Parts: sequence; structure tokens; C-alpha cells
Amino acid sequence: MIDLIDEIAALKKEKNATILAHYYQEGDIQELADFTGDSLKLARAATKVETPVIVFCGVHFMAETAKMLNPAKKVLLPDLQAGCSLAESCPAEKLRRFQVMLRENGRRFQTVTYINSTAAVKALSDWVVTSGNAEEIIRRVPADLEILFVPDRHLGQYLQEVTGRKMILWNGSCMVHEIFSVGDLLAQKKKMPGAITIAHPECPANIREHSDFVGGTEAMIRFVGEHQEPRDFLVATEANMMWQLESKHPRHRYHPVPGISCACNKCPHMARNTLEKVRDCLVLGKPEITWQPEFDRAREVVERSLLK
Ligand code: 13P
Ligand code: SF4
Repeated sequence: MIDLIDEIAALKKEKNATILAHYYQEGDIQELADFTGDSLKLARAATKVETPVIVFCGVHFMAETAKMLNPAKKVLLPDLQAGCSLAESCPAEKLRRFQVMLRENGRRFQTVTYINSTAAVKALSDWVVTSGNAEEIIRRVPADLEILFVPDRHLGQYLQEVTGRKMILWNGSCMVHEIFSVGDLLAQKKKMPGAITIAHPECPANIREHSDFVGGTEAMIRFVGEHQEPRDFLVATEANMMWQLESKHPRHRYHPVPGISCACNKCPHMARNTLEKVRDCLVLGKPEITWQPEFDRAREVVERSLLK
């Protein structure tokens, strides 16, 4: 493995590439990345990359967003099949038909779309949000308009609770956050009465309501950092987040909340990217995210929402 890491470091130099990695990537990938972050931080980091090549260690919609925001760069995704259950739950044509139906019924609304969606869906949207800026963007939607929120119904529900805005919710969910076991969480809390529970807003309401803090991955790091004394944290998000929390704030102890059918809660899409595939994409210069016609309109929405 040391050889592989050295090989990637040498190739990165030779090809003049920058590696961006999401917090849900394996620790060894996060460790060799030039930047790690949540979806918002990585999208913003992509605009600042100066090298001609970006290797995006994350899932397809993230690499697409990086390409939209910095079109002159060659954006490589180590495994092109690294998808997302949320993005899959909202095909653009189905969304377009639903919007037409709402308009025909006289509904006046704006479409607010979670970044976990395809470029074609972003192109049909008024706003794109991440877990890091969703509340702020929702407050920008004029009060006399309804909000159609897609595709994550749990994040949408959470945003309804914190902003007080009623929304029309698309019926999508994240396969990783949906399967946390509330029974196991309650058992863990009983065993560790002093522990603090933190949950991602992609979690269903039954997990969020037993949590002390709800926030995206970047907000979790900030929240944990505010605690000076060593504490136990029960963490309801993808399991690789533990690596990031341990490396930023090693004084605490972190315990992943288990899922109903899987003890570890790893995202199978994120897991498609491996060190070997990072090396191979640098050697081959592919798989590459190429510009698609829908990127033009999607880019306008993403820039307005994430950069302004
Ligand atoms: P954030 O890191 O932006 O909170 O997103 C979580 C996620 O599920 C990314 O796929
Ligand atoms: Fe999609 Fe969930 Fe995986 Fe994030 S963790 S990429 S939302 S399936």
C-alpha cells in the first residue's frame, strides 16, 4: 500500500493534478487528498483549483458539479459508476412532468434541489442546496411561492421543521442514512448515558428526534470541535466520517450508529473509488466527466446558489 501511495503522489506531480475527496471516502484516500470536504466545501474548492486536472474522489454528481464550476479543467472520477441513491430517485423527465402537472393545477412554486441530483435535474431547478447552505437558500425563496423540494424527503422534512416553510416533498432517500436502527441507537444511548448523538439531516425523523445535534458533515466537525473536554459521540452518518472526526478532533471517542442490516453504514457508491482506481485514472486520463448540453443551464443555477 505504501508503494501505491508513493505511486499516486508521483503521478499527481507528473500529471499536474489536484485530488479532492469527500469525507465519506476511505481514510487512505482522504489522507492523500489535497482537499477534503463536504459537498459545499468541495464545490467551492473546485473553483479554486489551478492545476489542469482534478481527480474527484466522491460520487458522480459531485464530479459533475466540479466540472460545471471549473469547465476548463479535466475532471476525472476514479469510478464512473459511483452513483447515488438520491440522484437515482429523481429522473429529470419525471420531475419535468411533475412540474408541468403542478403548474397546470395553478400552483406557483420554485424548485429547490439538493445537490445530490443529476445535472439534468439541476437544470430544471431554481436553486441547488447542500446540507451546508440549505436553510439560508430556503429563506431566499419569496414567501408567496410554494417550494417543491427534491429529491430527499428526510432533508426536506427537516428543513420544513427548522424554517417553518411547508414544502411539496419528492419521495427520495439516501440508502445509507435511511437504514439506521433506532432500536440500536436507543440501546447505545442507554449504555453510554453521557454520550452526545449527532445525526445527518438525511436521516429519518425517528433518528433525528433522538439526536442532540443535526447537521451536515462540515457542521458535525464544527460542533464536535466546540467540545473541549473528551466526550463520547454517537455518529449517525456514513462510517468513513469517523476517520475525519478522529483526525480533526482526536480527543473525543466516536461510535458509529449501526444500521438495521449492516453494522458499518458505508456508502457502496463512495466505496467504488479505491486507491488502485485513483492511480489508474491518473495513468489513463479517464474516466472523465465531459461537458453535457444540460450543464449550461445547471451551471447558472449552481453558481447562483453556491457561490453568491
Ligand atoms: P454533506 O457532506 O454535504 O453533508 O453530504 C452528505 C452526503 O450524503 C454526500 O453524499
Ligand atoms: Fe448518495 Fe447516500 Fe451515498 Fe451520499 S451516502 S452518495 S446521499 S447514497
